[in-house]
Amino acid sequence: MSLVNDKVTNFSLAELNKFSTESLATRVTNDVQQIRQALMMLLRSAIPAPITAVWAIIKIQATSGELTLTTAVGIVLLVAGIATVSAIAIPQFKKIQNLLDKMNGITQENLTGIRVIRAYNAEDYQEKKFNDINTSLTKVQLFAGRTMAFISPIITLIMNGLTLALYWVGATLINAQVTDYAAIVSFIMLSSQVVMSFMMLLMMIIFWPRASVSANRIAAVLDTEGTIKDPKVEKPLNSVGEVTFDHVSFRYPDAQADVLEDITFTAKKGETVAFIGATGSGKSSLINLVTRLYDVTKGRILIDGVDIRDLKQKTLRSLIGFVPQKGILFSGSVRDNIALGNPKMSLAEVEKAAKVACADEFVDKMDKGYDSEIAQVGTNVSGGQRQRLCIARAVAIKPQILVFDDSFSALDFKTDRKVRDNLKEYAKDSTKLIVAQRIGTVMDADRIVVLVDGKVVGNGTHKELLQSCPTYRDIALSQLSKEELGL
Ligand SMILES: Nc1ncnc2c1ncn2[C@@H]1O[C@H](COP(=O)(O)OP(=O)(O)O)[C@@H](O)[C@H]1O
Ligand SMILES: [Mg+2]
Repeated sequence: MSLVNDKVTNFSLAELNKFSTESLATRVTNDVQQIRQALMMLLRSAIPAPITAVWAIIKIQATSGELTLTTAVGIVLLVAGIATVSAIAIPQFKKIQNLLDKMNGITQENLTGIRVIRAYNAEDYQEKKFNDINTSLTKVQLFAGRTMAFISPIITLIMNGLTLALYWVGATLINAQVTDYAAIVSFIMLSSQVVMSFMMLLMMIIFWPRASVSANRIAAVLDTEGTIKDPKVEKPLNSVGEVTFDHVSFRYPDAQADVLEDITFTAKKGETVAFIGATGSGKSSLINLVTRLYDVTKGRILIDGVDIRDLKQKTLRSLIGFVPQKGILFSGSVRDNIALGNPKMSLAEVEKAAKVACADEFVDKMDKGYDSEIAQVGTNVSGGQRQRLCIARAVAIKPQILVFDDSFSALDFKTDRKVRDNLKEYAKDSTKLIVAQRIGTVMDADRIVVLVDGKVVGNGTHKELLQSCPTYRDIALSQLSKEELGL
């Protein structure tokens, strides 16, 4: 289980999308459980059974050829019967596990989305989704269960038939005076030992189909190599924090077209480079490439002249403080959340980082200050507060490169301004890559990159772009008046 868990934790986003999180959740829990059950059966019955069988077979052979043959026919019938039933049942087990994935997915969706579901009175809609899957699951499970139920009568029928056949063959042998009654009775005793041990093995085989489906599902996870790999030899880095995109193109796995095309720019040490563009223009995709959540399709991303694929992921990520578009907090205290990147961080450092992110204002007002508990995924703080804690978390590790994906849009204008001023002072040596929606947020950046449909259509300072880039000018004019822009 921990093996599977380790593997999953190391997956890149591409692999997570391939399996889907809910399927991975079932695999880590339910599938592992199935295998555990089968293994327990294996250890309990499969080890004594062959020993008994071998001993009894040796004894039987000494008695009579005809009787041995009869027993062999009985065993062959038994194996054939159970194999047929299992062959029908195995595909059903596969279906069951897949439906369990979906069921987990819906349950998860219902729980995480409970506020939205309530707000839109969508309980019935969600319940229907759940019921549909639940009904199919019940149907398949009933079918598989009924099929498997055939096994027990088949076994009884063949076992009793065998005893009958043995008496019959025995009787003819006694009639022909080949052997005597005592020998026949002892043979039947022994042969029932053989059949019993085979049955024990077969009983185990009943559990096997389900376990083997589960085993395959887990093997699929274990066999998947993360697409993002560490280099064998890491290139040395004289890290100052310069980020360069060199003709970078990027396409999501399985997508039809590139989301980023031929992106080239450099962010020098300590510079602030801002990215602006409509939703869907590829800003988040671009920023995610820097932390190697995905690898580029074409071109290179360099940090201080070293291709990031020549760095260990640990090294790369220790250089970067990343605030994703959707800030995530974890259950634990405010302090734990800010110190996530370095649990040994002192309280003073945590407080300093919170101050830079303007999180101190509301943390001080919380009951237990920095020891206040954050609920799972941060449901007990507001969107803006969560965003500020995420900014504090990134700043706290004092990274050479700070990456903000639209982290300021959840802040009010005043706080937005203040956080950026704080960053200028506190993180003046860090290279800052900022994705933003507001012209106000990007205006004083050293360089602004304007994206349209994954292509760079403008690259320069606010002043330059107002003159040279119509797209930038349009965005600017939609937010500020000509006077404010000084046009
Ligand atoms: N995980 C993904 N798989 C496939 N396509 C994606 C994925 N994430 C985003 N996209 C696509 O990439 C494009 C750019 O998205 P994104 O980088 O999030 O834009 P922005 O952050 O500028 O709003 C969108 O058209 C979106 O459909
Ligand atoms: Mg985005």
